[in-house]
Amino acid sequence: MTPHNHTIAVLDFGSQYSQLIARRVREANVYCELFAWDAPAENVMALRPRGFILSGGPNSVYDAGAPALPGYVLASGLPVLGICYGMQLLAHALGGVVAPATHREYGQADVEVDDCPLLPQQTQKPNSRISVWMSHGDRVEQLPPGFRVIARSANSPIAGMADDARRLYAIQFHPEVNHTQRGREIISHFVHSVCGCAAAWTPANIIDESVARIRAQVGDRPVICGLSGGVDSSVTAALAHRAVGDQLICVFVDTGLLRKGEAEQVIETFQREQGMRLIAVNAAEEFLEALQGVTDPEDKRKRIGEKFIRVFESQITRIQSKIQNPESRILLAQGTLYPDVIESRGPERQAAAKIKTHHNVGGLPKDMQFELLEPLRYLFKDEVRAVGSALGLPDEIVWRQPFPGPGLAVRALGEVTWERLERLRDADAILQEELRRANLMRATSQAFAVLLPVRAVGVMGDGRTYNEVIAIRAVTTDDFMTADWARIPYDVLARVSSRIVNEVAGVNRVTYDITTKPPATIEWE
Ligand code: XMP
Repeated sequence: MTPHNHTIAVLDFGSQYSQLIARRVREANVYCELFAWDAPAENVMALRPRGFILSGGPNSVYDAGAPALPGYVLASGLPVLGICYGMQLLAHALGGVVAPATHREYGQADVEVDDCPLLPQQTQKPNSRISVWMSHGDRVEQLPPGFRVIARSANSPIAGMADDARRLYAIQFHPEVNHTQRGREIISHFVHSVCGCAAAWTPANIIDESVARIRAQVGDRPVICGLSGGVDSSVTAALAHRAVGDQLICVFVDTGLLRKGEAEQVIETFQREQGMRLIAVNAAEEFLEALQGVTDPEDKRKRIGEKFIRVFESQITRIQSKIQNPESRILLAQGTLYPDVIESRGPERQAAAKIKTHHNVGGLPKDMQFELLEPLRYLFKDEVRAVGSALGLPDEIVWRQPFPGPGLAVRALGEVTWERLERLRDADAILQEELRRANLMRATSQAFAVLLPVRAVGVMGDGRTYNEVIAIRAVTTDDFMTADWARIPYDVLARVSSRIVNEVAGVNRVTYDITTKPPATIEWE
C-alpha cells in the first residue's frame, strides 16, 4: 500500500494475537502488514520492511510440519522481534535449545527485565519488574551463541533474549495484549528505535496516500457507493469523494428498518455537509410488504437481502442509463477492511469469516460484474474511525456501533409491522439517549433495544394492561465472536426502564439481558 519504506512485516505463525501485533505497530504510527509465515519471500520483501516481528503460534518447533522460520528473514540482516513461538523459532534456528513443554504456562506472570534493549534506556531501573501475559508450552532452555538474557520469570529463566550485534530480539510473553504492562512501549520502541521507522502512518498521511491510489485506479470513470450509514461505508464514501469529487454517486436505501433519525442523519451529513451526490431511496413500504406475515428470522434475512439487491440494482441501472459515455466501466466502492482480507490462518479467523458470510445479506447479484474500489482494504477499524474524523464526519457516524444488515427486522421479534417498528425505534432512542447522557456509549460495543414477541400483564392507573415487552441488550466485546453483557449501572437502567414504559405507548415491561455469548448470540434473532 505504502510507497515509503518505514514499514514492518509481521509474520503470522498462527497465534490468536497476530492481528493484535499488527494493530499495535499501526498504533505506533508505523505501517505494517501481516503475512502468513509461508508467504512468498518476494511478496513480503516488496513491502521493503525495516524489520520483522514473528508472532506466536500453537505449535512446538519439534512438531512434524511445524511452521519454520523462512530463510529470508535472517538473510535480510534486518532487526527481528520474535514473540513466544517466534522466540522459540529464533532459538531453534540459531543453535539454542528449546525444551518441550512439561506443562503450559498460561496467564499473568512477573518478569524481571534487566538492561532490556526493547525498552527505552532512560526508563529502566535495574532489575525492574513488569507483569506480563504468558501463553506457551515449550520454552528456551539454552541461549543460542551471541545472545544474552534480557528478561526472566520464575517459570522461564530465559523469558527474553537479545543479540544486540545482529539486532535479534525475542520475548516469551505477549507484548501485544493489554494485560502486559509496557507492552505497547516494547513494540513502539522496537519499530522506532531499533528498526528506525518514522511515525509516518498518521490519519493525514493515510488520507493522502488513499486519495492518490483512488485517483490512479479510477481515472475519469464514475464510482457508485452503497451508503448504509455505518462507519465503513461512510468513510469509504468520504475518502472516494475527497479523491474524485462528483465522479462519486452514493446510493442510500432507506429500508424503513433503521434506527430513529438515522436516515435523516445520513442525508444531512452526506448531501448537505459533505456536498456529495447522494441518491436516497425511500423503500420502506416495499420492505414492509416483503416482510408481511414473516416471523422466521432466516426468512426475514433472505427476503430483505433479495429486496435490497433489487432496489440497489434498479438504481444502478438508472445511473448507468444516464452516464454519457456508456463505454466507461463503472466502479463500485466497498468498505472492505484489512481484517477481512488478511490471509486466514488461525482457526478463529476462519470461523469469523464464516460468520461474516452468514450475515452478509446485502450482496450484489452474481451477474453484475463491477470493478471494485476498496479504499479501506489496508485499514483496521480504529484507523477507519481516525480517518473518518479527519475527513470531518460527525462523531455519531464515526463512532456508530455495528448494526445488522437486516436492521430492526431482526430486533422486532415476530411479525414486523410499522407500528411495532415505531415502538422499537422509540424505545431504542431512549436507551441511546440515556447511555449517551451517562457517557457510556463507548463503554459498550453494542447496545440496543429488542421488542419481544410476547405480551405481559401490567397495571397503569386503575387499569390493567396487556402490552409488549422490551429487552435491553448491551455487550462488551473485542471481536463480536464472544461477548460479555455490559455492567450498566443500575440507576441508568432504572431511568431507561422508567422512561420506556412511560413514554412508549404499548410497552409495559423492560428486561435486561444478562447472557454472555456463547451460549447466546448478541442479536436475539
Ligand atoms: P450475533 O448475533 O451472531 O452477532 O452474535 C454478531 C455480530 O453480527 C451482527 N449481525 C449481523 N450483521 N447481518 C449483518 O450485517 C446480519 O444478519 C447480522 N446478524 C447479526 C450483530 O449485530 C453483531 O455485531
